[in-house]
Amino acid sequence: MIWKEIRDENLGCNSFLLGDEVSGKGLVVDPLGSAGAMEYILTAQDLGISIEHVVETHIHADHRSAAKELAGNLGIKITFGKNAQVNFDYVPVEDGSLISLGSIEVEVMETPGHTMESISLVVRDRHRGDEPILVMSGDSLFVGDVGRPDLNDADDEIIRKYSEKQFHSIQKIMKLPDFTELHPAHYGASPCGGLFMSKKPSSTIGYERRYNVFTAIKDKGLFVEKQIKLLKPPPEEAIAIRAENLGPIKE
Ligand SMILES: [Fe+2]
Repeated sequence: MIWKEIRDENLGCNSFLLGDEVSGKGLVVDPLGSAGAMEYILTAQDLGISIEHVVETHIHADHRSAAKELAGNLGIKITFGKNAQVNFDYVPVEDGSLISLGSIEVEVMETPGHTMESISLVVRDRHRGDEPILVMSGDSLFVGDVGRPDLNDADDEIIRKYSEKQFHSIQKIMKLPDFTELHPAHYGASPCGGLFMSKKPSSTIGYERRYNVFTAIKDKGLFVEKQIKLLKPPPEEAIAIRAENLGPIKE
């Protein structure tokens, strides 16, 4: 299994290249505009994989994505959760959708809450075993925290609904085995999380089961109250960045 992380330390963003060394098939998750499409193309070449899929875990509001540029360069469509309201065609995926990269299998888990189209990607290495080896959780479950529900310019009632969805999504992710590695899209000072977000980019489901303040809350109402009470002000550029990532409106 081939695994490579490309980070932006200033923005607290993480992106991933995943592939199978035998088949040479690979994918990119949440490519960063600050890294640029060519960085992913050249890194994939170095790793000996061809990028067959460009997957966005959600529409980003905190940083510019390189997904449109990268997918355009490769002549493929971006893969998004089926509820993505973007202004371009994409490959829609939903709960249980499978992306096969030789012996590496990526299963989609819909995890709305940060945004409605948010997905997490559960990875299995069939060469080695049938249980999940890792999950890329986008902005659903973070190390020490969970993704905020309020970056969509929505009113209080909608933010509350998003937070309720986040509660159910976190419960869903927590069904994974303890040893599953957790690789979120953000860490550190990223504005997509809250006060408890760790500066460490990865964790395990087992550790977060024990020590994440939000996974410990089993009551939806308490979860929502805590999340809303602790919200930081949204990043100033969120609406403009999100609009850019949605792509130009079709004529
Ligand atoms: Fe986000």
